[in-house]
Amino acid sequence: MIAPSCYVILTYFRICKFETVISQHSIQQILSRIDIVEIVGSFVKLKKRGANYLGLCPFHNEKSPSFTVSPSKEIYKCFGCGASGNTINFIMEHEKYSYVEALRWLAQRYQIELEETEVSAEQKQQQLLADSLYIINNYAREYFTDTLFNSEEGQNVGLSYFEERGFTEETIKKFQLGYCLNTFNSFAQSALAKGYNLEYLQKTGLVTIRNEQPADNYRGRVIFPIHNQSGKILGFGARILGKHDRAPKYINSPENDIYVKSRVLYGTYFARHSIDKLNECLLVEGYTDVISLHQAGVENVVASSGTSLTQDQLRLIKKYTNNLTILYDGDSAGVKAALRGLDMAVEEGLNVKLVLLPDKEDPDSYVQKIGAQAFREFIEENKKDFVLFKLQLSMQEAGSDSAKKSQLVNEIAETISKIDKAEDFTKQQDYIRQCSQLLNIDEQGLIQLVNKFIRDRLVKRENAALKNQGGDALSEEAIAAMEAAETGISVDSLISGHERQERELVKILLRFGDKPFSEEDNTTVADYIFRLPYDFEALAESELVKRILREYKQRYDSGELLDRKWFLYHEDQQLSKEIAQILEDKEADLSMNWKERFEIDTVYGDNAYLKDTISTTNYLILRKIKKLIYENQEEAKKTSDINQLMTCLEMQKHLNALERELTNGMGTVIFK
Ligand code: UTP
Ligand code: MN
Repeated sequence: MIAPSCYVILTYFRICKFETVISQHSIQQILSRIDIVEIVGSFVKLKKRGANYLGLCPFHNEKSPSFTVSPSKEIYKCFGCGASGNTINFIMEHEKYSYVEALRWLAQRYQIELEETEVSAEQKQQQLLADSLYIINNYAREYFTDTLFNSEEGQNVGLSYFEERGFTEETIKKFQLGYCLNTFNSFAQSALAKGYNLEYLQKTGLVTIRNEQPADNYRGRVIFPIHNQSGKILGFGARILGKHDRAPKYINSPENDIYVKSRVLYGTYFARHSIDKLNECLLVEGYTDVISLHQAGVENVVASSGTSLTQDQLRLIKKYTNNLTILYDGDSAGVKAALRGLDMAVEEGLNVKLVLLPDKEDPDSYVQKIGAQAFREFIEENKKDFVLFKLQLSMQEAGSDSAKKSQLVNEIAETISKIDKAEDFTKQQDYIRQCSQLLNIDEQGLIQLVNKFIRDRLVKRENAALKNQGGDALSEEAIAAMEAAETGISVDSLISGHERQERELVKILLRFGDKPFSEEDNTTVADYIFRLPYDFEALAESELVKRILREYKQRYDSGELLDRKWFLYHEDQQLSKEIAQILEDKEADLSMNWKERFEIDTVYGDNAYLKDTISTTNYLILRKIKKLIYENQEEAKKTSDINQLMTCLEMQKHLNALERELTNGMGTVIFK
């Protein structure tokens, strides 16, 4: 239990956070007036049961009541979903209000005049301006609705347009749709005559100055009011009728003190209770999508108004639910818009699902075409997990391009790494398992890569903290080194083992080809590789590796300078890109420069590249030998000629010996 004096202090801080200070006197007045049964009872039908009251819980879907209100304890509690709290909590939860907003709501209800102390003159001015804009918008909304239903032009043009689109009168009224006459300034004149301030009218975007005259901005358009979560009008979208070659299809309110686009989702006011109950928010692109779905009985839907999601919008959704389902048009522009910003949603802890609609359909057209029931089924059947969806899409794009593939592995690991809340741990594991299967890569490797990204962020955060404390931040290089040293992996290592080793050979040649291999007989690394009795070009499976080896060998044979820059800046752009990719691997850098950079002795000393050279060539040779062993065994199985069988057995002995020799010399290289 918190002591009463503490409660006052806590309350004080909470209020300060909202920059408006409501006096303690006012708060006490409100608290003394609160009657929980009356307040909750205005949202929930309550029946008396003994000392308590009982009703259907407004916070989840239920058929038999488990929501109770205790007047003596002044709390509510639901035995179904666990929701509980006091009267202010109830208002905050039910209306999604902040603490101060809940207090204001109660003050208004009990007609208590709030004393707001310590509010600066500037803040007061702002509050006044905001209030004025709301008042003007509300007036405009009434005016446009009246025009729609009661003027001849409104009926003939506006109303018949809505009817053509299949909106019922009930829907039009619910969403407070309207029409603006196609005259120069009917609305402006009426508003000015009512005494509304011209400057504020311009701020709302309803009126502009044309030829030095106030003119209506939405002439001849149908009007969609945009409500905030509690139903106040923030602004408007005004749609042109028919074709729109020259003029924009929608004119939206400009940003002002109350309309901040990035914080608004169209439809929240109408959708909030349904989102709460169904514990899912559907996201569409447009005004008409929201309206049509509502009309069809799908009410947990809001619109982003054609832009990608912002952090504020995501937080708005999170107030109601953690489950976000995005419905997008089948065209690729829509998909791309949807994918942008969704990493952020994952980061915010939302479960994001995507539903792609059939080509050329948007939710509005599609629900009108197939009906509510079929639409709902379509959504259920076509929901795709965002992370897996993104992966599949990029896999199609990457095809067999290995540079793209490794970039893709990186991206997906980064996305997964963002689900790092303790509660989402199993979700992260599921993703890792599914993604490694889809990508056909090692699960353990993907786990390490994901961890690398998590660590990366931690280090960055640590660094920021160090900087804040005036200390020296770790250098980028040191961070990279720490990570590589800890994880010991790179994206390269996730691409198949064989291909990795082939690429490793190329890397060794490019980086260390002209370095000494043996002081004794004065040979280089390239000498060692090309003098082995194996043709690595022929052994390689990757076409890219084959090609680089061929070109390298040509230069080697003709005694030209083996300058890796020559390859890096190869005239073939594709090839030079791939080479850059291969050379990027940090591991080699680290084992080479560890000593001078960090003043630490490494186990490999200065000659790590020698070990790399031997283990890589051995790996590739061993692979060849394993293949030969297999082929030899197959041949032995097939033959009935005793001589040939003897040859096979001889061969087998020889190959096995070779295999053993190689494996013993390999040390740490691990085979799959
Ligand atoms: P759409 O072009 O898909 O419009 O744009 P819509 O809502 O489906 O409208 P109808 O069905 O053609 O009448 C999606 C959303 O993008 C914003 C609007 O919020 C619109 O609802 N938009 C579009 C604009 O703000 N301005 C534009 O010029 C076009
Ligand atoms: Mn549409």
